[in-house]
Amino acid sequence: MNSEADASSRAAALRAALNRAAHQYYTLDAPEIPDAEYDRLFRELQALEAVHPHLATPDSPTRRVGGRVLEGFAPVRHQVPMLSIRTETDTTPAGAQAFDARVRRELKLPADAPPLAYVAEPKFDGLAMSLRYEHGVLVQAATRGDGETGEDVTQNIRTIRQIPLRLQGAEPQEQEKDERPLPPAGAGGGEGRGASIPPVLEVRGEVYMRRDDFEALNEHMRQRMAAGDKVAKTFVNPRNAAAGAVRQLDPAIAAERPLSFFAYALGEVTPAAEGGPGWVSHWQVLHSLREWGFPVSALSRQAQGAPGLIAFHEDLAAERDRLPFDIDGVVYKVDSLALQRDLGFVTREPRWAVAHKYPPQEQLTTVEAIDVQVGRTGKLTPVAKLAPVFVGGVTVTNATLHNELEARRKDVRVGDTVIVRRAGDVIPEVVGVLLDKRVPGAPEFSMPAHCPVCGSAAVREEGEADHRCTGGLFCSAQRKQALLHFASRRAMDIEGLGEKLVDQLVDGKVVNTLPDLYRMGFVSLAALDRMADKSAQNLIDALQKSKHTTLTRFLFALGIRHVGEATAKDLARHFGTLDAVMAADVDQLAQVPDVGPVVAESIRTFFAQPHNREVVEQLRAAGISWPEGEPSAAARQPLAGKTFVLTGTLPSLSRDEAKALLEAAGAKVAGSVSKKTHCVVAGAEAGSKLDKAHELGVPVIDEAGLRALLDGEG
Ligand code: IVH
Repeated sequence: MNSEADASSRAAALRAALNRAAHQYYTLDAPEIPDAEYDRLFRELQALEAVHPHLATPDSPTRRVGGRVLEGFAPVRHQVPMLSIRTETDTTPAGAQAFDARVRRELKLPADAPPLAYVAEPKFDGLAMSLRYEHGVLVQAATRGDGETGEDVTQNIRTIRQIPLRLQGAEPQEQEKDERPLPPAGAGGGEGRGASIPPVLEVRGEVYMRRDDFEALNEHMRQRMAAGDKVAKTFVNPRNAAAGAVRQLDPAIAAERPLSFFAYALGEVTPAAEGGPGWVSHWQVLHSLREWGFPVSALSRQAQGAPGLIAFHEDLAAERDRLPFDIDGVVYKVDSLALQRDLGFVTREPRWAVAHKYPPQEQLTTVEAIDVQVGRTGKLTPVAKLAPVFVGGVTVTNATLHNELEARRKDVRVGDTVIVRRAGDVIPEVVGVLLDKRVPGAPEFSMPAHCPVCGSAAVREEGEADHRCTGGLFCSAQRKQALLHFASRRAMDIEGLGEKLVDQLVDGKVVNTLPDLYRMGFVSLAALDRMADKSAQNLIDALQKSKHTTLTRFLFALGIRHVGEATAKDLARHFGTLDAVMAADVDQLAQVPDVGPVVAESIRTFFAQPHNREVVEQLRAAGISWPEGEPSAAARQPLAGKTFVLTGTLPSLSRDEAKALLEAAGAKVAGSVSKKTHCVVAGAEAGSKLDKAHELGVPVIDEAGLRALLDGEG
């Protein structure tokens, strides 16, 4: 074999391995090769293609990162128009009844005919996209545009890793015929389904941005802005961020914006659907889409008659806040493709589908004031006080403006009419101002030069976005926050020590420092306003109880900057005793997993302060204790020998974090579920792995269960 042929078959094998790995990672959530290995194969392919440019096929994974800046987008005429769906204003579940009745009337069904079969899906809040595959290879991606003509955004869409560049089961391209298996990952790909892939296949679906990706992107943008980057900007909501990324002229920038995709319909299919895989129902279409490698939402369901649709509406509404992405309603579709054809279209909307919106997650309200609040570590946060507004399921009266830069960039002023957004359990945000409604002469917001609580100087350090009060524990706001944190459930867990009581204790000078809490007697407590004897005794009991704690909780409770619960746990495990933590220098601290130089410095600085050491000593003297010498993770390893599998999105832990926690406890984290799996940790949108676990009878737990296990409580 000459070297040219060698290069060609090697490139083919690499492409197959990389495409397979991307599918496992991004769509199935089940990576089988480590990231570093993926990177290595990727670089090898890049190098090969650089030397032999003709090997760079359109479906090459290297095309996912665009290098060329587009000059506007070329128009694309949709062979099958991209329709919209009739959207009902009725936001109640009962709205399904009218749709079902209409469909039955139009089909002239007798009143006693059995319930119709529907498919109910989330209405994803992103932007519609049409993906054209020819012989199984992605050749074009187009936006909806006006429904007839969209824009060619292929370059940018190629950067979305969830979108297959080549369909699963498609025959390899001409020049890849001599594909050889690539050890150790195996070439994979052809599962013999190639025949069922229509030569021309348009897949339609929604490009969207996950909420966590959106938050991370905005956070990244805020940091860039704080560092003086003039082109950086934050986005109003995930939908806008997704639309902006898709229409980014520079594909390299588009590639930095994490997008996701759900497939939910077909466009052009030749030969026509009847000649293709022979679907009779929309549900089968969704099944094929999944088999070809597209993400299809696990939330979509088959539903019988209006009652089935109503149940779906209610169930999904209850889940909405916890989903990892925004939805703005539900879509109901008649399942039978034959009935869909019978029903046909009115103007540009199909009679066989309808959308019902959920109550919006964005609302208008007015800004009554802008307060500046002082946090535990002295951070000053401007907060917009709003006329109460019901949005995203709760009444919102406050919205953070983050910092001065952000407040000024949004240019929120007192009296302004603003758009407030609350989606998921994300804190409410002011996302925009209606400038034409601004009261003339309203002054621009600026950060006070002094702490509004203690009057100490407020400073902003070089390179930081936040102003801080320099008063430290002299500042009563910081003292109050420190006490509340100390007493919080995951710290010392002092039941009954809430905000109102802390206000009273600090304002009345009963408590100045943390150890003062343990010096309070029944008499001084019972003497407080609105404090019944019973509550005073309960608090004394709770304080007493809190003295038996763990080193992790105690370290976390101290409120050292940058030391969250996870870091506290790592410190406790690594050092075993408080004295060892207090004595550690920066280098020793930095040896703890996940403790970087900034965190190490912060811990060192904290324990270098004589008054902090004094507080620690007084707390110990008050009787706070924990089992000394907590064994290190290496010694304890409560999950040693156990194999775990992660699937879906956990409410607060990222996949990497969950994996790291499990591994620190000695567990092995595998990519797929088998009989050897001890436990599956499942979050939202968990897919086939969850089904597999149920099938094999493998125990399934959620994030709370995982935490309990790790805390040794499970
Ligand atoms: S089906 C002929 N399914 O809603 C029906 N559309 O007004 C074709 N959308 O522009 C669309 N989620 O962007 C369908 N599960 C879903 C959807 C969905 C969101 C959007 C889509 C389209 C609009 C229809």
